[in-house]
This record gives sequence, structure tokens and C-alpha cells, in this order.
Amino acid sequence: MSAESKYETHEYDVLVIGAGGAGLRAAIEASAMGARTALVCKSLLGKAHTVMAEGGIAAAMANVDPQDGWETHFKDTMRGGVFVNNWRMAQLHAQQAPDRVRELERWGAVFDRTHDGKILQRAFGGHTYRRLVHVGDRTGLEMIRTLQEKGVHQGIDVFMECAVTRLLKDGDRIAGAFAYWRETGRYVIFKSKAVVLCTGGIGKAYKITSNSWEYTGDGQALAYHAGAELLDMEFLQFHPTGMVWPPGVSGLLVTESVRGDGGQLRNNKGERFMFKHIPDRYKPQISETEAEANQWIAEIRAGKQPTARKPAELLPRDIVARGIYMEVKEGRGSPHGGVFLDISHMPAEYVKKKLPSMYHQFKDLADVDITREPMEVGPTTHYIMGGIRVNPDTQESAVPGLFAAGEAAGGLHGANRLGGNSLSDLLVFGKLAGEHAAQHAKTAGPPKVDDAQADGAAREMNEFFTRADGENPYQIHAELQDMMQSLVGIFRVEDELRKSLEKLATLKNRAARVCIKEGNKMFNPGWHLCKDLQNMILIAEAVARAAQFRKESRGAHSRLDHPGFNPEFAKVNTVAFKGRDGAMQLEGRPLPEMPAELKQLIETEKNHKERHG
Ligand code: FUM
Repeated sequence: MSAESKYETHEYDVLVIGAGGAGLRAAIEASAMGARTALVCKSLLGKAHTVMAEGGIAAAMANVDPQDGWETHFKDTMRGGVFVNNWRMAQLHAQQAPDRVRELERWGAVFDRTHDGKILQRAFGGHTYRRLVHVGDRTGLEMIRTLQEKGVHQGIDVFMECAVTRLLKDGDRIAGAFAYWRETGRYVIFKSKAVVLCTGGIGKAYKITSNSWEYTGDGQALAYHAGAELLDMEFLQFHPTGMVWPPGVSGLLVTESVRGDGGQLRNNKGERFMFKHIPDRYKPQISETEAEANQWIAEIRAGKQPTARKPAELLPRDIVARGIYMEVKEGRGSPHGGVFLDISHMPAEYVKKKLPSMYHQFKDLADVDITREPMEVGPTTHYIMGGIRVNPDTQESAVPGLFAAGEAAGGLHGANRLGGNSLSDLLVFGKLAGEHAAQHAKTAGPPKVDDAQADGAAREMNEFFTRADGENPYQIHAELQDMMQSLVGIFRVEDELRKSLEKLATLKNRAARVCIKEGNKMFNPGWHLCKDLQNMILIAEAVARAAQFRKESRGAHSRLDHPGFNPEFAKVNTVAFKGRDGAMQLEGRPLPEMPAELKQLIETEKNHKERHG
């Protein structure tokens, strides 16, 4: 019996996996180009980590600071990523982000406005100018609402609560995906000429994370098994401000907009400690005297459009996260192991208008009124800069017909992402991925589904029920999270990375033998976790291997045993892939050569940085 007659089967030109901002934008584009398009997501439509990018979309629209332009956005992105970014992605991103924002507005997004009616832009870490287009602190939500509305009315077929476990191939090319309905456990095949992976990140491999349950590295794992490569997986972002109390909500995001809109970070001595942690390269830009801070607050109170400011709280995230970590480690932290983030000096009405979600989040979850008292915050695993290696112009991976966009793909952000660059990333590259996937589908013949691959995928999922003995997946997941948090966290060191790889090998063996003793395939979260766990362990291995390989500190990757830059590593990206023997291989690959005119654009800055760190 053929797989197509055995399993529920659907056929499309383009299959988009993941329904966050990148997936929705890719599906909209593919369908607009006439491709029969399906969107599959393991969660509900609209339930995406995109909503956690609360503060805004970075786009050089120059509405508030007229000096801004794509060149400065490009430079800021490269500098924030410490120059190991894919220059072409950084260029396309900076050039195309403003158009993607205007398009979103045409589709119905309602952004905050300046006094004279333009789209308002706010300050964020590492951006030279006020650049983040926003809707209070709910920008990601507004983006998802708008894209969902547009996509659904455009006739995209949506398969919700449907989890993909394997990509199917026809020889070297992509042929579709094998999945199961989370509610019934029934298997389903998607036959497709092109597949776009937009599955987000891997935060759930860590104990403290802003990510929700969906972020288990599925896209990266699917791509890896299908023969694609994973780029720069050592670069994992710890957002400086997550909630630290109460324990049930620890890690929940506290948007950078709190700092962009005037919030100050203080230790238990009342000091604005980030001024002690300004790297030389940012010293010419970052400064704020007490008088300047007060002047700015007075402007807000007077209802004026405030002038630009450069407080140390708005350094790039890797620097602020390390600053907070050091304050806590050296005994100057808050009662629950974080530091204080205070915006109570601003007018209460301003705080409630600019940061409505934060106001309610702290009131409802921590019984803290942020218009009167400081918040307690600490670093939380937020985002992975690394991901599936793609062609920067088309977003196609090394596997013909397999594309990736958004957090699932790597390259744009280099060693550290600037806040706001994720929402613009997923708009720009979601569109490009959808466009090129549709183009690919136009010329590709119908793929053939290999029965053995489909049956193998079904067997893999069935086996969790057939073992008489084996461990509980929740126990292994908890151990993975504890281990990654303590051994592959903000600061790394050889001995701990080695231990992490040993532990991962053990966890991998144990995860291969997990079993489900109770229940059946009808909505069974334990069964779902069995597969997610294997993905998380695989991707955690790529993170740990790449972290061990890069013997320097760069951006979000800090090696205590290799502080500072190493010129050799400045020239390479790390690439992980499946070797012929089935084991993970990792190598350094030279960075793509940047054209002279772009080199010139960033050269002065880079030379300064390589010298001074
Ligand atoms: O802090 C934030 O609002 C997060 C934004 C982002 O990750 O881009």
C-alpha cells in the first residue's frame, strides 16, 4: 500500500511550516504569486513568539530622526553583530525594511504616531537613531493580527495544531513533510514542491527563557536531518530583562521599550550601574548626565516630542545582559536575584500609554505597580542568531526546494541581534522566502513521496508507545534545561562546554529510549514532547559544539577562558552539518567577501573596534 493511500495526504506548491510573522509573510507572498500554499503550525494560528518582540520593528524611515537611512541601519546591524553577519542579508534587510513597514500599514496595522501624524519611532539598544516603529508595547501582536487577517483572506490553507516530524525528500530535492494532528495523533503527509521553514528558535532547551512551549528547535532539526547546514549556532541571545519573580513567571519578557521610554537600571545601592560597563567602542555615543535625564523627563511631562538620548541602558543586549549578570554575581542584586528596572519617575499616564502590557503584566503577575515601584529583572534566553544557512538573496538552504526565514534561519544578526531587528527580519526575509519558494515551485516537477521515508517517520513516532520500559521525557527535558542554563549560558568556559557535550551524549541516548506508558495518541503532550526533546538535544549539541569551537568572545558568545576578539575567528562563521557517519560535524567557513563600497561604509568603525574591543 502506498504512503499516499495509507496516510491522509495533501498536495501543494509551497508548504510553509510555522505561523509566526515570517511564516505568515512567506505564505502571503507565495500565494500572491499564484502558488497553492499551505501554512502548517503546531500551535494555534496567531500564537507565535513574534508577539514577544514587543518593542517594535526596526526600519530606517527617518520619521523622528531625519538623519537616519539604510546605510546607518546596515552599519548598526553589522556593529551589533560584531561583523560576522552575512553582509548581504544585512544590506537587504536595511534597504527593504521601510517598504515592508509601509506595506503592513496598508494592510491595516495601526502604529503609534508622531505629533504631526507620521509613524512614531522609538529608541532601542544599539540603534544610532530612534528607529523602532511600534504600537505601545504590543507591536508583535499587531503584526501577527495584521498578517493573519491578510493571509486568511488571501486563501491560504491553514493546518493548525499539526506538528511536522520529518521532511520528505525525492532524491536530493525536497518532496514535502510528514506530520501528525496533535489532537487525534493521526498522521498526515504534505506533498510539496517547496517547503519554507519558519519555526522560530530553541529557547525551550533552557530553563529561564522568554520563549513559549513551541520553541524546541524543530525547523533547525528538520533541516539538519534533510541535509541542510546550521550556521553560527553559538550565538544565542540572553535578553537582559526578563521577570525574576515570582518563580512561576521567571524569564517572561520585560520589553526593552521600558528602557527605550526612560526606564533606568539600578543595583541595590541605587547606582545606574550600566555606565560602568560601556565598552570603548560605544563611549563616544553613550552618555547621559543626571541633568540631561531630568531635562528629557521634563520634555515628556510638558507633552513635547522628546529629544534624542543615549543612556547606557540602551547598549546592545549582550553588553547589558553581562552587566546585570556581574552586578548580581558581585552581590549588588535585588532580593530575588535580579536588578531593579525603574520607570516610576515618569508620569503614570505616560507609562500606562506607552507600556500597557508591562503595566498589566507586573500588576497581575507580581502585584507590582510599575508607575510607583521598580521591577526586578534579569537575563532570559530570548533568541538564537544562528540558524539554517541560506542563500541571502533567495533564502534557499543547501537542500533544493528547502527555504528558511526568520529566527529559524541564520546570518543576518551575526554574533548579536539588535532589538527590533527580528520583526523587520521576518518581514523582509519572509517575503523573499515566499517569493523564491513560489518561483521554485513554478519550474519544479511534482515530487514523488518515498513510501519508505513516510513509513519510517510513522514508525519513529509509534515506537514511543511500543517500548515496555524507558524514561519519562519530562525528566530528561528538565535535566537538559538545567544543564544548558548552567554550562552553556551567558559565560562559557572549555571545561564546562566539554561537560555539556558529555551530558548531551547521555541525554541523547536516554531520549532515544523514552516511552509513553499511559494514554494513546489522542492529545497526548507527553508523546509530543518525546519528539520535541530529540530536536532540542540535537540543536543544543550544535550550540555547544559551536561554542567550544569559537575560542574568543564575540557578541553574545562570551568565553571566560578566551576573553576578547581573536582575529582568526573574526574571519569565520561556524557551520554544523550531519556527517556521512550520521554524527554532527562542525567547521569554520570563511565569511563571504563584502563589496568595497560596503566595506568602506563600516571600515573606520570596525578598525576601531578590533583594536579596542
Ligand atoms: O524587548 C523587546 O521588546 C523585544 C524585542 C525584540 O526581541 O526584537
